[in-house]
Amino acid sequence: MIAHGIRTVGVLGAGQMGLGIALVSALRAKVPVLLHDKSSDQVANGLAFADKLLAKDVSKGRISSEEAKEARDRISPVSDLSGFRDTDMVIEAVSENLALKQAIFSSFAKELSPSAILASNTSSISITKIAAATIPKGVSAASEEGKATAARVVGLHFFNPVPVMKLVELIPAIQTSQDTLDRARAFAVAAGKEVTVSKDVPGFVANALLMPFINEAITALENGIATRDDIDKTLKLGMNHPMGPLQLADFIGLDTCLAIQQTLYNGTSDSKYRPSILLERMVDAGWYGKKSGKGFYEY
Ligand code: 3HC
Repeated sequence: MIAHGIRTVGVLGAGQMGLGIALVSALRAKVPVLLHDKSSDQVANGLAFADKLLAKDVSKGRISSEEAKEARDRISPVSDLSGFRDTDMVIEAVSENLALKQAIFSSFAKELSPSAILASNTSSISITKIAAATIPKGVSAASEEGKATAARVVGLHFFNPVPVMKLVELIPAIQTSQDTLDRARAFAVAAGKEVTVSKDVPGFVANALLMPFINEAITALENGIATRDDIDKTLKLGMNHPMGPLQLADFIGLDTCLAIQQTLYNGTSDSKYRPSILLERMVDAGWYGKKSGKGFYEY
């Protein structure tokens, strides 16, 4: 048996993160992937993008055309969550909304095998809160059943673009079992990633450090300290960052950046995490960055 013991993985959400996770699972971990998104257009667009990325890997000689075909054939769309019934692990990659994630994990716990790992790709939301939502009503969180249910939940935080970024943050909830953690780590390694571990605090390590940095850059723009291009150029050329912070915010999605900032601010009550007004206004305007065609830059 392979170390992670995962024979089939389900990925919920075919946006930029979910699609990337599906692709590395199929190509690197070489496991069959079931992919679901409430929008069938999103699934179709995601799969077309996966085809493009695989074709590029073939053209650059990184993989053979057989490997590309095998990887693509491992990904199958499913039309609803019941399609995940026989998976050994699901990875949720939907938008950053606690109530939505709790509802999803409650259904996962009902639908999936009791040994399946329930992983969230959340960027900042408490894994402990998500895990608590898996315990059926009427069952005590302190009972053996309650503890065993929540013990399967873990944070598995990938980075965008998933096929390129080498890291996965592994986040145990306070209920997560060692077995869940070990298997989730082994799966991330099989998918070609290096793993770091963070406690379940708002934003974990990555976003607790990255988001205040992005927010400061937006505040600097708001305060007229420098132009957009000079802020980004300063960080790119002065600190060797691959993208300036405003370009990176657009790339992540301004709605996602705001949702993470709000989780950090609400979860800590620390004013250093207060989202910049400009970020809020841009999201109010529907300017979400690269994915919507306009953010700090035009696309
Ligand atoms: N999906 C897959 N591959 C992608 C991609 C995407 N969306 N975008 C770019 N790539 C690939 C390109 O195809 C190219 O691959 P190749 O070497 O095989 O040709 C490679 O990345 C480099 O791309 P480019 O040459 O076009 O451009 P760059 O050299 O500027 O690299 C980048 C692009 C890799 C995105 C680089 O700018 C970068 O590393 N930016 C920072 C990204 C980052 O910080 N990500 C983390 C965000 S935070 C996060 O995800 C956490 C979340 O919780 C918010």
